Amino acid sequence: MSDLVSVETSEGVRTIRWNRPDKKNALLREMYTAAADAIETGEADKSVRVFVLGGQPGLFTAGNDLIDFMEAPPHIGSGEMPPVERFMRALMNAKKPMIAEVDGLAIGIGTTLLMHCDLSYASENAAFKTPFADLALAPEFASSLLFPTRLGRAAASDLLMLGTVWDAARAKEAGLVTDVFPSATLAQDVRKKALALAAKSPGALRKAKALIMTPEEPISERMTREGGIFAEMLQSPEFAEAVGAFMERRAPDFSKFG
Ligand code: COA
Repeated sequence: MSDLVSVETSEGVRTIRWNRPDKKNALLREMYTAAADAIETGEADKSVRVFVLGGQPGLFTAGNDLIDFMEAPPHIGSGEMPPVERFMRALMNAKKPMIAEVDGLAIGIGTTLLMHCDLSYASENAAFKTPFADLALAPEFASSLLFPTRLGRAAASDLLMLGTVWDAARAKEAGLVTDVFPSATLAQDVRKKALALAAKSPGALRKAKALIMTPEEPISERMTREGGIFAEMLQSPEFAEAVGAFMERRAPDFSKFG
């Protein structure tokens, strides 16, 4: 475990924080490995219901460490998985909810990774930038597909070609982040969201996430797909708990389900 990444689990929320403030949280291989470990072990641990990925007050990350890039250039999809790819695949493949908490700078992969989170919250002083063209680099981790699809081509080009710095308001307007909170309360506001998710049916969240991530298909096929899952879930012990709680006028307790 690297001390450049902090991992803390409480009340069902595993919070992973970049912790290299002297280098603006620039990401090293060992940091990607530590974060990938935290996600993969959390996925296997029933007591972990939700992930939060954040940085330090006023700082998310300055992106990949540029010296590390030079020393060990990662080649994604080339066979042996470099740590950055392992981390991004762990993020992409996580079946549990993943929330990003962005205070301050989110440069390069710090912005790219938001496309692989379910919810992203920014502080009012967040700044998003993907300066790949300035660095003579190309977009990464499917951002050339996900940015235009989700944000639109013009917005994608503004980020990926022009490298425009987006503030929190622009990021929210474009749909890059879910919502914006004051810096002073961001961590608490994000934790409230995480705890709300942690209290919900884990099976239902898994299904919703998988459906949201299922590629586009004809509407009729999606209705059929959802219908099958819905019917199956009506028979689930988690649904029985939800209905039982409704009848007994109490909050459902999904803690025994994983
Ligand atoms: N890789 C390696 N080191 C980095 C880094 C990065 N991506 N970003 C910051 N650092 C280091 C700086 O070299 C400096 O180290 P030093 O104190 O040993 O000299 C330290 O972090 C502080 O950075 P500094 O540039 O002095 O702070 P700043 O507040 O003036 O600027 C940034 C902060 C993030 C705007 C600026 O450092 C920057 O542009 N970094 C590069 C961002 C980047 O291109 N990322 C890669 C995207 S693919």
